[in-house]
Amino acid sequence: MEVRLAPGSAIPVRLRYGYVPKNFGLSLSMIPRSSYSSSISVHTNLSEPKSEKHIFILGLGFVGQFLGQELKTQGWAVSGTCTSHLKKKKLEEMGFDVYLFDAKEPELRTLDILKHHAHLLVCIPPVMGIGDPMIQHKEILRSSLINGNIQWLCYLSSTSVYGDCDGAWVDEDYPTNPTSELGTMRLAAEEGWSKLALNIGLSAQVFRLGGIYGPGRSAIDTIIKQELLSERQKMRASRKYTSRVHVKDICQALKASFDTPSLRKVYNIVDDDPAPREEVFEYARKLVEEKWPGLIKQSHEQTIESLERGEKRVSNSRMKEELGVELLYPNYKSGLQSIINQMESPVI
Ligand SMILES: NC(=O)c1ccc[n+]([C@@H]2O[C@H](COP(=O)([O-])OP(=O)(O)OC[C@H]3O[C@@H](n4cnc5c(N)ncnc54)[C@H](OP(=O)(O)O)[C@@H]3O)[C@@H](O)[C@H]2O)c1
Repeated sequence: MEVRLAPGSAIPVRLRYGYVPKNFGLSLSMIPRSSYSSSISVHTNLSEPKSEKHIFILGLGFVGQFLGQELKTQGWAVSGTCTSHLKKKKLEEMGFDVYLFDAKEPELRTLDILKHHAHLLVCIPPVMGIGDPMIQHKEILRSSLINGNIQWLCYLSSTSVYGDCDGAWVDEDYPTNPTSELGTMRLAAEEGWSKLALNIGLSAQVFRLGGIYGPGRSAIDTIIKQELLSERQKMRASRKYTSRVHVKDICQALKASFDTPSLRKVYNIVDDDPAPREEVFEYARKLVEEKWPGLIKQSHEQTIESLERGEKRVSNSRMKEELGVELLYPNYKSGLQSIINQMESPVI
C-alpha cells in the first residue's frame, strides 16, 4: 500500500493501491484546510484535492441521483455529469455540482476536476457499436487520473455478463458468457475499468446489478402510465427468472463498500427473489387496483411468447457476507409496496 504525504504535512492523507480502510474518514482537523474547505462550493478551487466525503459520479442518472441525494444528507459534496443543459439545470437545482460531459470525447478539463475527488462512481453504460465510451480513451484517462486523489472507484455493471445459465444459481465465480452484444460490451467495460484502476494504483469494485427499480421507475409506474413493454422488456418478461434490485439497496451496497476492505472486487447486487417479470407485473397491477380502483382502463395484458428460457438465478451471498448489506427490500413485493405507499396520487 502506497502512503503519500500531503505537501507541508507529516500526516498521511492518501492511501492508495488496495483497500480503503475502515477509518477512511480521517478527522478534518488532521487535513490541511486547503484540502477540504472548497468541497461544498460550486466550481471553485477545482484543482484542489477534496475531502474524503466528496464523490464524482460519471452519469448522474437514476442511481447516481439517488446515491447523490442520500450522500448529501450525510454531509457529502456531490459532483457529477450529464449530457444536456436542461438536465444540468435540474441537477444543479437539486444541489449537485454538475458538468456537461460527452463520454465519447472526454474533456481534459472535466477529467482534471474529477481526479481530485476521493470517490469515483461510473454509471455511464456502453454505447452500441463502440463499447465503453471512456475506455476507448484509456491512455488519456490513465495519464489524467494517475496523479489524482481517487481512492475508491466503482463501475456499475450488469448481471447480463453471465448470459443464459439454464436456471442455475450464479455467484461471482460463475464463468461469464454474455449472450447479447450489450452483455459482451459490459464484460469488456468491466475489464477496461478494472485495468485502468490498477494502472492508477487502485483496486476497482465492479457491481453487477440486476434490473434496477425504485420510485419513478417500477412495474407500478409502467402500469400507471399504461406504457407498452419494449421489445427488450418483453424478452425479459418471458424469462423464468429475472434478477432485480431496489435502488435504495444499491445505494446501501455502495456506501458499505466505501468502508469495507475489498477482499473481492466483483459483487452481484440483486435481491433475494429472482421472480419472473410477469409475476411482478401481476402483483403491481393488484396493488394499483387496490389503491386506485378503475384506474387501469385498458388491459395491460400483452402477448408474451413464453420461451421457457432457463436464464439464471443470481446469488447475493457475497454482497451480504462481505459488505454486510441487509436488504431493505429483499423481494419485489416489499419493494413495490413501499413505492405505492409513497405515491399520493397516480401521476399520469
Ligand atoms: N436499468 C437497469 O435495469 C440496469 C441494470 C443493470 C445495470 N444497469 C446499468 O447501471 C448503470 C446505472 O444505471 P442507471 O439506471 O442509473 O442509468 P441511467 O439512469 O440511464 O443513467 C446513465 C447516465 O449516464 C449518462 N450517459 C449515458 N451515455 C452517456 C455518454 N455517451 N456520455 C456521457 N454520459 C452518458 C446519462 O446522461 P444523461 O442523463 O444526460 O443522458 C446518465 O446520467 C448504467 O450503466 C446502466 O446501464 C442498468
